[in-house]
Amino acid sequence: MNEVRRLLPDLRSASGPASPERLAERGFDQALTKAWAMSSQAIIDEVTASGIKGRGGAAFPTGLKWSSVNKAEGQTKYVVMNADESELGTFKDRVLLEEDPLGALVGLLIAAHAVGARKAFCYIRGEYREVEQMLAKAIDTLTQLGWAGPGRIDVEIRRGAGAYIAGEETALFNSIEGKRPEPRVKPPFPTNKGLWGSPTLIQNVETLANVAILFAHDAQWFAEYGTKATAGTKLVALSGHIQRPGVYEVPFGMALADILNAPDLGGGVAGSGRLRAVLLGGAAGTFLSPDEVAQSQLDYASLGAFGASIGSGAVMVFDDTVDLQWVLTKLARFFADESCGQCVPCRIGTQRIWEIAEKGGLWTRTEDLRELGQAMRDASICGLGQTAPLALLSILDRPGLRQDV
Ligand SMILES: Cc1cc2nc3c(=O)[nH]c(=O)nc-3n(C[C@H](O)[C@H](O)[C@H](O)COP(=O)(O)O)c2cc1C
Ligand code: SF4
Repeated sequence: MNEVRRLLPDLRSASGPASPERLAERGFDQALTKAWAMSSQAIIDEVTASGIKGRGGAAFPTGLKWSSVNKAEGQTKYVVMNADESELGTFKDRVLLEEDPLGALVGLLIAAHAVGARKAFCYIRGEYREVEQMLAKAIDTLTQLGWAGPGRIDVEIRRGAGAYIAGEETALFNSIEGKRPEPRVKPPFPTNKGLWGSPTLIQNVETLANVAILFAHDAQWFAEYGTKATAGTKLVALSGHIQRPGVYEVPFGMALADILNAPDLGGGVAGSGRLRAVLLGGAAGTFLSPDEVAQSQLDYASLGAFGASIGSGAVMVFDDTVDLQWVLTKLARFFADESCGQCVPCRIGTQRIWEIAEKGGLWTRTEDLRELGQAMRDASICGLGQTAPLALLSILDRPGLRQDV
């Protein structure tokens, strides 16, 4: 067995994933009791010692973020669960919230308790209606048991309205505040000035679920999987030409080839059965050649050597019949559509890349594209513009992937 079942429990109790029975079965009632008996600093020390890094894409150390919000000046503080999940090829938070909504919520409550917040938001992708209902049930359970609610930690669900950019943390704050979801210039960072100008802790769903299982057990148990540098597990979302598409939980350090081929994971390349490339980390990720896939582990250092990162955990697989120019054209259109248009390098850059792609110029206008990509990376306000050219640039750096089908 290569698949791990910590975040995605193999429990099928009749009471359902949002019930008080499930809370107990998962050890989350004990996790809350344990955290409530600890000081803020002790909780933050535990999270820091676990080495948990953000699972939303940037892999920022979670304990460090909690410490910054805890130390920030401010009467009112907020915590936010980011469940906007609108990146192409990313669907792991949806599965996680469907199967274990209490996990991420327990992590959110522990986070609120640690940084001194009395108000929490769950910002959820608008299309995830069933997930939203499951989350609402789980909030009811926690409220009935006295862990959440007005007077304790009030948890409110807010639905996104279909924009990828609303997942960017400061755009998300604007959306909650009833403004256009446009990113803010940073600094100031959310840890000091987030929602309504107050210190705000924002974490991805999977990051918070990791906090819950950490407190339901301990740091030693947590580190039984993973590598020395990165303890624990990661959810990966396999899609494209893969025999068994879906979301799987795997230990950090697992060979990428095993994730694709193990019978209980990806089950092998579908379509022609011959791999052309893997796009790792979503639309703003990096294409890896079959050779690079064979040499990579799911580990920040191993992937960093190829200029790649795990991102949100999206793994898109393409067999050797796929024209990658066509794929890049689709990605270019996505970014041109989703740019909020606030800053010029991103607004014009995403549009120009799409136009060049539509005209079939991706393999010939390489110098122009490199220059455009660099300008976008250097001068865009937010992560969307800074990362939109990455997948394209990764192919320009890998001439072997460029041949026409
Ligand atoms: C365009 C864009 C979209 C994003 N969408 C998401 C998202 O849907 N979910 C998420 O957790 N983080 C998303 N992020 C990252 C967030 O800004 C933020 O870094 C993250 O929620 C922090 O949580 P973490 O430290 O637990 O990863 C997005 C970033 C950008 C630039
Ligand atoms: S980089 Fe793009 S998405 Fe981000 S603020 Fe600028 S225009 Fe908007």
